[in-house]
Amino acid sequence: MKYSEKTPSPDNFFELFETTGWNKKYELSKDQLYVALKNSWYSISVYYDVKLVGFGRIISDGLVHALILDVIVLPELQGHGIGKFVMDKLLAKCKQHKVRDIQLFSARDKAGFYEKLGFSKRKEDAPGMEMEKYW
Ligand SMILES: CC(C)(COP(=O)(O)OP(=O)(O)OC[C@H]1O[C@@H](n2cnc3c(N)ncnc32)[C@H](O)[C@@H]1OP(=O)(O)O)[C@@H](O)C(=O)NCCC(=O)NCCS
Repeated sequence: MKYSEKTPSPDNFFELFETTGWNKKYELSKDQLYVALKNSWYSISVYYDVKLVGFGRIISDGLVHALILDVIVLPELQGHGIGKFVMDKLLAKCKQHKVRDIQLFSARDKAGFYEKLGFSKRKEDAPGMEMEKYW
């Protein structure tokens, strides 16, 4: 396996992204997803030969806030440390820039993965908030 900090190709990323089912909600084309990736502050891609098998990215102002997104490992390779490798790289980038605040969204069944890396759930009196389908 090897890793790269370059944005993966639209085809490579789309194939990995489709394994998550998230695009049922977002309905994004390959090219739209690529634009989103290109606008990231930092991304890390893990390849097995030429196949993208792991990915994660950060959108950030580079100093105060960072949001970790799209941490994905190919289902058949999950449980072998690739997700942790991706997260370690993303966190190292934040640390390098001393980004003060790092946030992410976790599915309920993935919280343990992030807790092992040092993340904690937000307090009840300071919930995360969102607005969906507002357009
Ligand atoms: C979540 C995900 C990225 C984890 O990647 P992975 O490569 O399978 O995880 P790793 O093998 O690196 O696991 C690292 C550690 O976290 C633990 N872990 C992994 N998934 C976990 C989970 N769902 N709950 C609790 N612990 C978990 C592992 O047991 C391992 O523990 P260890 O260091 O004590 O051995 C992967 O399951 C995935 O891509 N899922 C689909 C997409 C997704 O849901 N992404 C997260 C969005 S919230």
